[in-house]
Amino acid sequence: DVSQRVEALLRQMTLDEKVGQLNQLSGKDFSTGPGSGKVRDIERDIRDGRIGSMLNIRGAAETRRVQALALQSRLHIPLLFGLDVIHGYRTVFPVPLGEAASWDLDAIEESARIAAREASAAGVHWTFAPMVDIGRDPRWGRVMEGAGEDTYLGSRIAAARVRGFQGTKLGGLESVMATAKHFAGYGAALAGRDYNAVDMSEHQLYETYLPPFKAAADAGVATFMNSFNTLNGIPATGNAMLQRDILKGRWGFKGFVVSDWGSVREMVVHGYANDLPDAAAKAITAGSDMDMESSAYASSLANLVRSGRVDVKFVDDAVRRVLTKKFELGLFDDPYRFSDPAREKAALADPRHRAAARRIAAESMVLLKNDGGALPLRKDARSIAVIGPLADARRDLEGGWIVDSNAATMASLVDAVRTHAGPGTRVAYAAGCDVACRGTDGFAAALDLARAADVVVLAVGESWDMSGEAKSRADIGLPGRQAELFDALKAIGKTPVVVIMAGRPLIFENVAQGANAILYAWHPGSEGGNAIADVLFGDVNPSAKLPMTFPRNMGQIPIGYQQYQTGRPVLDNGNSVYRSAYIDSPNTPRYAFGHGLSYTTFAYGDLRLSSTRMTPDGKITLQFTLTNSGRVAGAEVVQFYLRDPVASVVRPVKELKGFQRIALKPGEHRTVSFTVDRDTLSFFDRKLAWGAEPGTFELMVGSASDDIRLRQTIELTGP
Ligand code: IFM
Repeated sequence: DVSQRVEALLRQMTLDEKVGQLNQLSGKDFSTGPGSGKVRDIERDIRDGRIGSMLNIRGAAETRRVQALALQSRLHIPLLFGLDVIHGYRTVFPVPLGEAASWDLDAIEESARIAAREASAAGVHWTFAPMVDIGRDPRWGRVMEGAGEDTYLGSRIAAARVRGFQGTKLGGLESVMATAKHFAGYGAALAGRDYNAVDMSEHQLYETYLPPFKAAADAGVATFMNSFNTLNGIPATGNAMLQRDILKGRWGFKGFVVSDWGSVREMVVHGYANDLPDAAAKAITAGSDMDMESSAYASSLANLVRSGRVDVKFVDDAVRRVLTKKFELGLFDDPYRFSDPAREKAALADPRHRAAARRIAAESMVLLKNDGGALPLRKDARSIAVIGPLADARRDLEGGWIVDSNAATMASLVDAVRTHAGPGTRVAYAAGCDVACRGTDGFAAALDLARAADVVVLAVGESWDMSGEAKSRADIGLPGRQAELFDALKAIGKTPVVVIMAGRPLIFENVAQGANAILYAWHPGSEGGNAIADVLFGDVNPSAKLPMTFPRNMGQIPIGYQQYQTGRPVLDNGNSVYRSAYIDSPNTPRYAFGHGLSYTTFAYGDLRLSSTRMTPDGKITLQFTLTNSGRVAGAEVVQFYLRDPVASVVRPVKELKGFQRIALKPGEHRTVSFTVDRDTLSFFDRKLAWGAEPGTFELMVGSASDDIRLRQTIELTGP
């Protein structure tokens, strides 16, 4: 059994060999080997058993070559190969925030499964995904990599992604280990500035930021990654409360924790450690098992143990955790089992993967506005002008964190409009400007095309490298002068259908007010151009819903639907004088969490409850009838919210507690059920104990957080 094999191996290991297992370096550092000026011979270190894992090495042939070096080490311990496979390996799916907008857990699991199939065939054992940080500040570029602002939705998606990457059991040939990152609080970086300090109440940490990590742990995630930030003054990497007490203690997590890139070393810069050895001591003691790219463990851990500063039990515990995963992956039985060139070739060329990417991309695009039925477009229009800096983009369709860009094989939006439109339709294209859009020189040519066209499609937004790590923006408007391009089209009497691509919610007030139709496409991936056209022309009926609130202006940030009630809320009659409000902006967002339109309409009716009183051990079933009341088939994501109006800790005005995605033909109806039990009504009280308090609760069902269609009050009786 695995634990006996681990113990047997551990007994044979020297202290230096143990430390080697906790050292992770990047394949990019191969180029800084001998002769490069940096005295760092990684290949020699691998042969000497001084490295336990490499990141950024991929491909069946290359992983085989490097693994062979590790097998020359005294104990022949194989390496783990880790890589940021964030939204696909060869086949690129929508950026995770976009995919979250599908609210389709099966689709999300499927895309992770395909990514795992491709990556594992290319010798990758381990992906640094999913990022399960809650993101409520769209200035933070990494909201692109998560599931948005909501704890419940984020938790469900976290579990789906873990299941997708890891399959039913670690060790399957088509599975990779997943990583729940970044533990913890990283998404709450002050002012939305990446790597910035995080300061929040423990209550907020427990209620909002930890549950998706817990969901990932419960789903069996193999590893965690800690984070760059300090949390209430303690760097996450050196945070024993997070890693030892909560993760490995209370949650009983049996996998291992990898640091973020250089985050052990950065504890010195934070002012939390005197020097690298001090940082190493603090990190290992706090439960950070593997050191990514700080070389802090490699350079000082053995001495720290020898000098008595670090108890060897911490090292043994970390090594045990790492070796366990290597055994579970089957690497001791066959270190090359994932590095199979034939399987790699077949997996990376599998046409089913691109078909899934197209389907999931179309499912992730949010129809924000569609006045007067501007969409779908008719396929028999005489002429369509496709305008804008992203109209002919390919690389920008993919978004950030791309392992293996497909740009050369992709259809841009204008390519896809050409293939979707009827044979009699003339399709013309002009960029108008590039994404940075510093000047308006190109506007005239674009306007000429628009003047001559029956239909104008305008594609604007961010380039692939404007979101992601270290891509915080202080102004999240459309970059450069893109908003002016829209105004210029309006000024010549053209109202374009607007497609926006981005890795975060953007602010685009002139477009929101002046356009008739807006499709938010995120960075939709390898098949993004085709998928956008599928939705624009009505081959796919949009069904996605926003996983993050879209503000009207920068001053509203952070803005989320799950705000706490104040003592002076704006009154129902709109009166906001001496109320919690702005004097120059409404409180309401431009587009609320959960918002997203369809080409059909859905009617909600006939709400019925099995009871309106519930005992602590009881359950209430809520049911209603959902009807497709429009003329085309479509899917609705029905959302179930809760409010606890009076409690020992003030509760949010609304919290998501359930959702379902329901596909209906025109005229078809379905009974939808949600179950309420004690857990649904529970929260962390002031002592951080989880439980429900007797009293009344309001149940709400709707099409968006600001579009509640049915509501009913229930009562939880005392114990
Ligand atoms: O996985 C990432 C992490 O999210 C940010 N820093 C680098 C890591 C490895 O590439």
